[in-house]
Amino acid sequence: CGIVGVTGTDKTLSILIDGLKKLEYRGYDSAGVYVNDNAGNDYLVKRPGRISNLEAALTDDVHGLSGIGHTRWATHGEPNEANAHPQYSQDNRFYLVHNGVIENYAQLKKEYLSGVHFTSQTDTEVIVQLVDKFVVDNHMDTEAALLKVLRLISPDSSYAFVMIDREDPETLYVAKNKSPLLVGLGDGYNMVGSDAMSMIKETNKFMEIDDHELVIVKPDHVLIKEFDGNEKHRDSFTVDMDASAADKGAYPFYMLKEIDEQPAVMRKLVQEYFGDHDDPQIDENLIKAMADADHIYIVGAGTSYHAALVGARIFERLCGIPTTVHISSEFAYEQPLLSKKPFFIFLSQSGETADSRQVLVNVNAHKWPSLTITNVDKSTLSREATFTELLYAGPEIAVASTKAYTAQIAVEAILAKALGEYLGKDAAKKFDVKHQLGLVANGMQSITDSKKEIEEVAARYLSKPRNAFYIGRGLDWSVSLEAALKLKEISYVQAEGFASGELKHGTIALIEKGTPVLGIITQDRTAGLTRSNLDETRARGANTITIVSRHLSQEDDTIILPDVDECLTPLLSVVPAQLLAYYTSLGKGLDVDKPRNLAKSVTVQ
Ligand code: G6P
Repeated sequence: CGIVGVTGTDKTLSILIDGLKKLEYRGYDSAGVYVNDNAGNDYLVKRPGRISNLEAALTDDVHGLSGIGHTRWATHGEPNEANAHPQYSQDNRFYLVHNGVIENYAQLKKEYLSGVHFTSQTDTEVIVQLVDKFVVDNHMDTEAALLKVLRLISPDSSYAFVMIDREDPETLYVAKNKSPLLVGLGDGYNMVGSDAMSMIKETNKFMEIDDHELVIVKPDHVLIKEFDGNEKHRDSFTVDMDASAADKGAYPFYMLKEIDEQPAVMRKLVQEYFGDHDDPQIDENLIKAMADADHIYIVGAGTSYHAALVGARIFERLCGIPTTVHISSEFAYEQPLLSKKPFFIFLSQSGETADSRQVLVNVNAHKWPSLTITNVDKSTLSREATFTELLYAGPEIAVASTKAYTAQIAVEAILAKALGEYLGKDAAKKFDVKHQLGLVANGMQSITDSKKEIEEVAARYLSKPRNAFYIGRGLDWSVSLEAALKLKEISYVQAEGFASGELKHGTIALIEKGTPVLGIITQDRTAGLTRSNLDETRARGANTITIVSRHLSQEDDTIILPDVDECLTPLLSVVPAQLLAYYTSLGKGLDVDKPRNLAKSVTVQ
């Protein structure tokens, strides 16, 4: 979910709506705002569905000097109006927006709130009703009541809260645990938001909030308190971010824009990591910490997990250090036996994914060294890891990740080059990653220039079938998983990525007449084998489609990729797969950027 709050300006409503639109990537099941004009009038408007539904419901009389807003990704209760946030107390005094999950909400409800009338099924309502109860029944002041509630919430819960008390509407009560939240410092007014982007139109000056703090935000000052009431001082920081980078421009969907940006991202990475040098310029302490490790563990979720699978193979090839990859939600609660000197890499576009953060909390508890590779500087995972390297991909807005995936792989390759060189590995010495990334950028460009052909392939093979398979071996298998995920996420085709040699051991039973099987062929050693596996499916009625590196191509191949170093072929082979998913989704008339049930950044476990 995404949350925003503002106090001290008559621009409140528009700041809330603009902020929510920027946060829609965090969920778009329902949205709502509460605004108060500090003269006795207030308004609560909530709607199921997108922010645009909420906007349409805002009549001219809705205005305020302070307010809070929310866009939801449902956890408790279906996404209807009653369950939308802000949630409020039964006497309509307290209004609260929340991102996260209160693990012990049912117990709190039972223990303290029998007889209270509830209007929603949310865990959030329990919190706001509880504050009200302590204020009304126990005669506590609002701050003390909220502090008491915060102490009652079980520590495994995750939350980012912004609350308004109708009787003192200028004050925003703010707290967080595990979920991200940031204060934005405006000129004569202040804001709170789930990320910097949601406030960047108004300010580039921010203040961090740590877990277990109560932050009181007023128009002219911000007060940070620990749960025991002690005050804390914190300096603000500025973020260098271009608000227009998050605009769609002339593109119909962000996803297409982001696919097209990939060549520029590759060039930007070369510029950032090499400058005028031939070798990557990476923090020496990071390289030493990695060189000191006997095993590298890469952790991620979704597309980042898939980028990790590619990265692990590159690290092993170039550095000779055993590297394994783990799904963060699995690793967090079933930690495998680890080597003696582990080094952890966290891959996360947003730097906020709760599953990955949970692993980092465990890693930090053991004082193991770690690196976060992320697109968002100062994000939670970046702040909490020992080292950070950035993706420089610019804001990624479409829910289906594209340019962040390729940027992650490129950064992994740059890092592997630096580490392998440091370790004196021949494979790394021979790997001219700077030159190769230039070739990759050009290669990506030529693929994105042939959109028409790819659109035709999508229309011909993927528009009707309910399922499809991507197959490949080695790095091509890793890409198959990501390629299939793209098709699932935005086109709702039940697609699977398979190790092509494994098909015959079971999955081939699913092949019927017309089933699309897409083969990725970029690795010299396994090209022939994957071709044979494709033939096996064709013999059983499949429509086979091939995505093949030029030097391995044959006359009847479908999509030909420019040649680059074998380690970097995933950067090219994934691009037609992204475009195939895009055009399949487009052809079905779906909302490419905001597929059903998903959110871009999932800050609950
Ligand atoms: C969500 C998104 C995926 C993304 C995953 C991990 O599930 O829908 O596209 O890959 O989170 O996100 P991260 O920001 O950690 O890379």
